[in-house]
Amino acid sequence: MKVQDGSRREFLKGTAAVAGAAMAAGLILPKAYAAGNDLIRIGLIGCGGRGSGAANQALSVPNSNVKLVAVADAFEDKVNGALSALQKKHADKIDVPPERRFSGLDAYQKVLEHCDLVILATPPGFRPIHFEAAVAAGKHVFMEKPVCVDSWGARKVIEAAKVADGKKLKVVCGLQRHYQNVYLETLKALKDGVVGDIVSGQVYWNGNGIWYRDRKDGMTEMQFQVNNWYHFNWLCGDHICEQHVHNLDVANWFLGANPISACGMGGRVDKTRNTEIFDHHYVEYQYPNGVVINSQCRQIAGTKSDVSEHFHGTKGILHIGRAVDYKGNVLWKYEGKDNPDPYQVEHNFLQNAVREDKAVNNAYYTVDSTFTAILGRSATYTGTEQKWADLLKAEYRTYPEVVNWDAPTPTKPGADGRYAVPIPGQYKLPIKA
Ligand SMILES: NC(=O)c1ccc[n+]([C@@H]2O[C@H](COP(=O)([O-])OP(=O)(O)OC[C@H]3O[C@@H](n4cnc5c(N)ncnc54)[C@H](O)[C@@H]3O)[C@@H](O)[C@H]2O)c1
Repeated sequence: MKVQDGSRREFLKGTAAVAGAAMAAGLILPKAYAAGNDLIRIGLIGCGGRGSGAANQALSVPNSNVKLVAVADAFEDKVNGALSALQKKHADKIDVPPERRFSGLDAYQKVLEHCDLVILATPPGFRPIHFEAAVAAGKHVFMEKPVCVDSWGARKVIEAAKVADGKKLKVVCGLQRHYQNVYLETLKALKDGVVGDIVSGQVYWNGNGIWYRDRKDGMTEMQFQVNNWYHFNWLCGDHICEQHVHNLDVANWFLGANPISACGMGGRVDKTRNTEIFDHHYVEYQYPNGVVINSQCRQIAGTKSDVSEHFHGTKGILHIGRAVDYKGNVLWKYEGKDNPDPYQVEHNFLQNAVREDKAVNNAYYTVDSTFTAILGRSATYTGTEQKWADLLKAEYRTYPEVVNWDAPTPTKPGADGRYAVPIPGQYKLPIKA
């Protein structure tokens, strides 16, 4: 059950058999990497903190012949900043001449012309469009969570994931707990029956504030919003989606199910920021068989921090790495000494899958976990019960019809210059009939 660290031996093992089988079956692979350690050309779309980190990890996969060959960001300074940082660590693996450095909102398309595997690390509002384009272009994908911010985006990701399967493309997503031994071993303990059947759980991402990027002179409204993306729902999905997706994902993963419905409450108490996102959400999710998961997420300075997941079973309580009975006796404890960095492991795993042509597509569970957050946000914004089946098929789209630096943004400031924060009981989801 432990994750692999993707050594060269693992990469090469079985490649001849895979190539032979593929040829015999007449399959056309997007690109045959089965011939030993062929070069995998990496493209990066979104050169911020995580994109730079993911590119570093892609270039750090042990004994893998990779090069970063093309990069894109909405803003030129981000491209140059990421490249100069990566250059310091991986000079021999960076091959990005000026003609393969792209900026602007259509820059992603140009990166796809040059790479075999692409890293998608922009704000999540763009992910459905970028993932769809990457799959259409026949690229293997590492994409960050969340993978969408609304029902329209969720459906797009599901459709693109199916196309990726048809093309035998490999897709790994940045819900890195799936590549972390303590989570994998805790799930194994659960399946071994250590706490019996789960009846309820609590998942948390409670922390302090988040960054705010001020408007710079001369910026269009679109430039301001894309740069300050965390504060606009069409780009970010609110922090329940942006961050708390990790913990909601653990709930779905451990329960082996998606929620049926959600009710919740939330709001914004810190009015000093000009933003449209809440600073706290509390959601009660109903799962099959009467299981209830309570979710909390908060971004308020000076409050208690807690990022964790817990499940109550018929025989005891499962924490990550530990289980106790209802008298506090320890039922199980994770004692693994082998804890490789999951952010690295996910890239080892992806490149290994590409080289060995092993099926992997994390998009399905990642879109489910993202949609769980969207369901919860829809419940807290409106103050109404939201049902998974109805919301997923709803014409709920926040992404604009036209995206360029001068195009109108879906969210506009009011006459006082402030963005409206949803008021439960009054707010209506922008769903087309
Ligand atoms: N798995 C994790 O633990 C983890 C950690 C941090 C961030 N993330 C995810 O990574 C993504 C990026 O987060 P970040 O912290 O790097 O943010 P960031 O703001 O540092 O970087 C985002 C970059 O994308 C660029 N960008 C915006 N729109 C673009 C577009 N249309 N085309 C190309 N580039 C565009 C921005 O200019 C910026 O440089 C988010 O989805 C976030 O949730 C995941």
